[in-house]
Amino acid sequence: MYLGLDLGTSGVKALLIDGDQQPVASGHGPLDVSRPHPGWSEQDPAHWLEACEHAIGELKASHPNELAAVRGIGLSGQMHGATLLDRDDHVLQPCILWNDTRSHAEAAMLDADPRFRELTGNIVFPGFTAPKLVWVKANEPEIFARVAKVLLPKDYLRLWLSGEHMSEMSDSAGTSWLDVGKRRWSVELLAATGLDESHMPTLVEGMQPAGTLRAELASQWGMQAGTPIAGGAGDNAASACGMGTVGEGHAFVSLGTSGVLFAANSAYLPNPASAVHTFCHALPQTWHQMGVILSATDSLNWLAGIAGREAGELTAELGDNLRAPSGVTFLPYLSGERTPYNDATIRGAFAGLAHESGRAALTQAVLEGVAFAFRDSLDALVSAGTRLERVTAIGGGSRSLYWLKAIATALGIPVDVPADGDFGAAFGAARLGLIAATGADPFSVCTLPATSRTIEPDAGLAQAYEEARRRYRALYPAIKGVSA
Ligand code: XUL
Repeated sequence: MYLGLDLGTSGVKALLIDGDQQPVASGHGPLDVSRPHPGWSEQDPAHWLEACEHAIGELKASHPNELAAVRGIGLSGQMHGATLLDRDDHVLQPCILWNDTRSHAEAAMLDADPRFRELTGNIVFPGFTAPKLVWVKANEPEIFARVAKVLLPKDYLRLWLSGEHMSEMSDSAGTSWLDVGKRRWSVELLAATGLDESHMPTLVEGMQPAGTLRAELASQWGMQAGTPIAGGAGDNAASACGMGTVGEGHAFVSLGTSGVLFAANSAYLPNPASAVHTFCHALPQTWHQMGVILSATDSLNWLAGIAGREAGELTAELGDNLRAPSGVTFLPYLSGERTPYNDATIRGAFAGLAHESGRAALTQAVLEGVAFAFRDSLDALVSAGTRLERVTAIGGGSRSLYWLKAIATALGIPVDVPADGDFGAAFGAARLGLIAATGADPFSVCTLPATSRTIEPDAGLAQAYEEARRRYRALYPAIKGVSA
C-alpha cells in the first residue's frame, strides 16, 4: 500500500493505493480560507495538521489493515504559500496563500530586477513566495526578523510528519528563489529579498525520499515508523504525475479552485513575457509550462453563493447541450488574474446584462468566461513554444459536461475525459511515494489513464464562440481603467 496526501486549499485528501496503483480508500479533512482584508487569503497551518489528522483518521477507521500496510508516502500541496517558522519551528503567523495578492507592489518591484526573470524563468507574480517575504519585511519587520525557515504548505506538513526541513523542485520553482534551469536555490535571489540558503529547506527530486514517518504519529495511526516520504510535488505537477502528463506533448486542463492548463516539457523553455509559468516537473530533468487562472470553480461557487444554490444545480439548469453565448460576458477575475495579464488589482465583471438575463444566462456566462480564460492560457502556451493537439480534463468542475463542451469549443481542440478513477494530485503523490519506496522507473509508473470519452469542439457554435471571445477580450482593456 502507498499513501498520497494532498493539502489543497479547500481540504486535505488522503488516498490509499495498492501496489498495482488501484485506489483502495480515501479520507478527507475540510479547510476554510480566511480573507481578513480585500485581496488577502490566509490559512492557519495548525488547521492543515488537523485536516490531515481527520483525513488519515477516516482511513484508520475504515481501512486500518491497509493503512498499516503502507510502505511509502507522497505529498502534494497548494503551491506558493509562505509558512514562516522561527528557530524552534513555531509558526509565526497565518500562511499567506497562493491567491493572496497583498504583495503585488513588492512582486512588481522584484520583477523589475532582471535577475528574477533570468534565473527563475518566470514573472514574479504576487501569489509567489518571495514577494510575500518582502511584504512581511516592510509591514511586519518584527516577524521578518524572527523568520528562520520559509516552508511551502506541503513541506510544513512534511516537517510535522517527519521532523525534516525538505522540499522538492516542482513546488520550489514557484517561490521565485529557485534557479529553475539549474534546479537549485539561487543565493543571489535569496539575498535580494534579505534571506539566504539557511532559510530554505534541502532540495530533492519529487520521487526521491525526503524524510520518514515519525514514530509518534506512526503509532497513533497504526502505521510503520520510518516509512519513507517522497519529496512529492506542487499540486499541479502532482496531478500531472497522476495523469501521466510527464512526457512531451501531453497536457491537461484542471478545473479546480484555480484553473490550470498544463503541458509537460522535456526541456527548460522559459518565456516569462507570455505570463506562462515555467516550472520544474517532479521527475529529474523534466519541466512543464502552465497558464494559471486564479478563479475557475471559485467563480461558479461565487455565483452559487449569491444565487443560494449548489454549483451543480446551476450547471444542471443549463442541461448538457451547448448553447450559443447569450450576449452576457463574464470576466472571472474575482481575485485578479495571472495568465495572460499578471494583474492583481483587476476584478471580475458581468457585461451585456438585459431584462431577460436570468440565472441560467449568468451561469452560462460564468462557464464561458472561464473557458475563454483557458483559451487565453492556450494562446500564451502557443506563444511560449508549446503546441497542444488535445487536453485531458480533471478537477471538480470537469463533472459538468456543459463546461467541458464550452472548453473544447473555446480551445478548438478535443478534451479527453479519463475513465472513472481518481487521477488527481493525491493519486500523483501516492505514485511518487511508491517510486520513492520501491525505486521503480518513474515513467513506467506515471502512465496515462484510459479515456472514457472525448468531447470535440462544437463546429456549429465555433463562429458564435469566436464572436463571444472577441467581446470577452475587448472587455479587459475597457474595464481596466475603471476597476476600483
Ligand atoms: C499554481 C497555483 C495554483 C495552486 C492551487 O501556480 O497557484 O494552481 O497551486 O493549489
